[in-house]
Amino acid sequence: MKKIIANFKMNKTATEMKQYLIKLISKFEDKCEAVLCVPYTCLSLAKFIVDGHDNIKVGAQNISEEEEGKCTGEISARMLKDSGASCVIVGHSERRAKFKENGKIINKKIKVALKNGLEVILCVGETLAERNTLKVADTLREQISEALKGLYENELENITIAYEPIWAIGSGKTPLVKDIEIVGKIIRKIVTEDYSAKAGEEIKVVYGGSVNTKNAATICRCKYIDGLLVGGACLDADGFAQILNTSI
Ligand code: 13P
Repeated sequence: MKKIIANFKMNKTATEMKQYLIKLISKFEDKCEAVLCVPYTCLSLAKFIVDGHDNIKVGAQNISEEEEGKCTGEISARMLKDSGASCVIVGHSERRAKFKENGKIINKKIKVALKNGLEVILCVGETLAERNTLKVADTLREQISEALKGLYENELENITIAYEPIWAIGSGKTPLVKDIEIVGKIIRKIVTEDYSAKAGEEIKVVYGGSVNTKNAATICRCKYIDGLLVGGACLDADGFAQILNTSI
């Protein structure tokens, strides 16, 4: 079953989310695993509304790297779990760029999430300059190795790697199918080298960046790709339901 993740980013109040989710659920045909990474303020409500739908999960978009205590404004792994999140996005390029999250912080966040029973969606991806200078593999190797440093192989079953080329996010541009497949293969090779052939084969890899109702089904069927991470196109319930129902 494909894994289709929605990243709502900083969109929708709880009131708006309620209407949205009721509509989405009424159209969802249960053909994929849907993961809804909603704003913190919508977590409990989303969990309550999707209750009983086994193929719909709720997730967060960020997590504190600290367990507890003097971190004004931060949200801990335990708080996320208690609010209904089963997973969390870590290392999104917007957080790397705007909030200066580096490999060390991302690694800490992943460890605290896993320790507290949250699955992790790890975002990686190259800039346009890195693509143009043929540095995609080097960039991904560095990002993945830093993020997963110190993790045991059996922990990888709770990690999904989301390949999100930065130049594709919100731009309306996507890589060619063959390029997504090449990168999917590269990611699996990196995991194989750092762990084992089995780990490289079994790690979940999804694609994100300008996925929409027109390209979702095609991208989802790419070789080496297990699903999608959808930003802007998840915000409309009709459109996102269409993506969920056709991404099989
Ligand atoms: P868009 O789908 O809006 O390009 O955003 C992708 C993204 O950043 C998802 O995490």
